[in-house]
Amino acid sequence: MVQLDITMIENEEERDPSVIGTIYGDVGTNSFKFSMVGHAERSDYITVEHPDCGPVLCQIDSIIRKSNYTLDRSLERDGGRIDEKVIASATVIGYRDSNGLLNTPRTPFAVGCDVRLSDAQFIKKVLGLKDDTRTCAYIGMLRNYDLRIMLDINSMVQRHVSVLAKTGGGKSYVSGDIVEELMKHGVTCMIVDPHGEYGAMRDAADGKEDIRFGVSPRSYRESMVEFGMDESGDIHPLRFTLRSLDAKDIMELCSSSDSKTSVLALSKAIENVKAKKDFYDIKDLIDEVSSIDSARHYALIRDLQLLDSLHLFAQKGNSLTDLVQKGKTTVINLKGYSPDIQQIVVRRLGTMLFEMRKAERIPPMMLVLEEAHNYCPQTESTACKKSLITIASEGRKFGLGLMVISQRPAKIDKNVLSQCGTQIILKVTNPNDLKAISASVEGLTGGMEQDISGMPIGTAMIIGAGIQTPLLVDVRPRETRHGGASVQVLEDDDDE
Ligand SMILES: Nc1ncnc2c1ncn2[C@@H]1O[C@H](COP(=O)(O)OP(=O)(O)OP(=O)(O)O)[C@@H](O)[C@H]1O
Ligand SMILES: [Mg+2]
Repeated sequence: MVQLDITMIENEEERDPSVIGTIYGDVGTNSFKFSMVGHAERSDYITVEHPDCGPVLCQIDSIIRKSNYTLDRSLERDGGRIDEKVIASATVIGYRDSNGLLNTPRTPFAVGCDVRLSDAQFIKKVLGLKDDTRTCAYIGMLRNYDLRIMLDINSMVQRHVSVLAKTGGGKSYVSGDIVEELMKHGVTCMIVDPHGEYGAMRDAADGKEDIRFGVSPRSYRESMVEFGMDESGDIHPLRFTLRSLDAKDIMELCSSSDSKTSVLALSKAIENVKAKKDFYDIKDLIDEVSSIDSARHYALIRDLQLLDSLHLFAQKGNSLTDLVQKGKTTVINLKGYSPDIQQIVVRRLGTMLFEMRKAERIPPMMLVLEEAHNYCPQTESTACKKSLITIASEGRKFGLGLMVISQRPAKIDKNVLSQCGTQIILKVTNPNDLKAISASVEGLTGGMEQDISGMPIGTAMIIGAGIQTPLLVDVRPRETRHGGASVQVLEDDDDE
């Protein structure tokens, strides 16, 4: 490396250490540039005094180091003196006026104004950050600041939430944080968990208290109930009745080739069984189809037997009071079920929660949907898409919130994504996904898109639920065990 003699060009006179720069050049009312002398990073908050409005909160958009070290000089590996300046551009966020409202100055700052790093209390005041632990969920700390970020729980449930990131970006981790907060606040919740990750929340996380975040490991065993296929230990059997399924639905579930004769035979069998019994199961249907013509409907009978082996359908299904318990979180563990079956389960649950909430037979609650692109995709139709769109567009009126979690924002139905009033965005790099996010998030600038693609694991951009401008947040550690930890292919040496 060439030994360089770099000289920062700055004012020689003694400077106030809290000042990190000076405004210069053309100054607008929304943005300005300043020469930077102290240390600051992109997205940091700065304060500038305005003659009419007092201190105004601004945010650094970009920082550029300018020098006279040209391409030619670098090629010559010139080790001579280099003059260097650092300039930054900033966006004006605003100030609280005498009525406590967020306002922006109508005239530009003067050139030559000092730029200072903002203190946490001023940021909190101008951004209007909430801190009521009774009604808010603690999600993390403002990046680079000692400032807790709390999300308004009512607004999350009323206006829905989306959690978006590429795979391994930390979606399930931060969603677990939110579910912990919902349980802490006694908010009823149901999680559609296709990978069987959330049952781990019964256990406290490993390790000790995290001092920066003030979070200690804790178990939520008493606040959770889980249903699924694997009936071991803590998991209760998931059972539905067949009553609301018609022949076509059942054929879909068994991935049966729905030839006309099979559909007709099954319809007839359902009709016959219904005439005899109020409650029936798949075995009853098999008996009935066999009695019609077992040789002819051999393939149908075999598919029904396969469906029966999942034990998902029974004469008596899970009752509403089992599935939704006030103040508790119900995990619907769908691990082991095929995509078609998962969709039917989600449709049943979605429709049931919506109808029961409308009739006020269950408390206001949040439905958490992992891998949402599989249940309400943009292009294809699925068994459950309609019921999810209904919840997204009408759930608000009835206190039924939806939290959609996805690694492919571009593939989720726009009707669902655009209804989410709170967005939690972690690292996303796919250009189509970034486009889908920009389209559904108000106030996202080009610089923020860049932030999203470069964010480290553990940092989220959050907007909504009481937060009016997108904030970069260091997500708090989990109290409970995270069930979705990445699997190591090779053991670390120090594990030996
Ligand atoms: N805030 C965080 N602090 C510490 N570790 C984290 C954080 N967020 C995520 N991780 C770690 O990153 C890994 C991936 O996180 P997570 O399982 O939440 O990703 P994901 O986005 O849900 O991925 P997938 O799309 O595969 O489900 C996990 O091992 C988790 O422990
Ligand atoms: Mg996940």
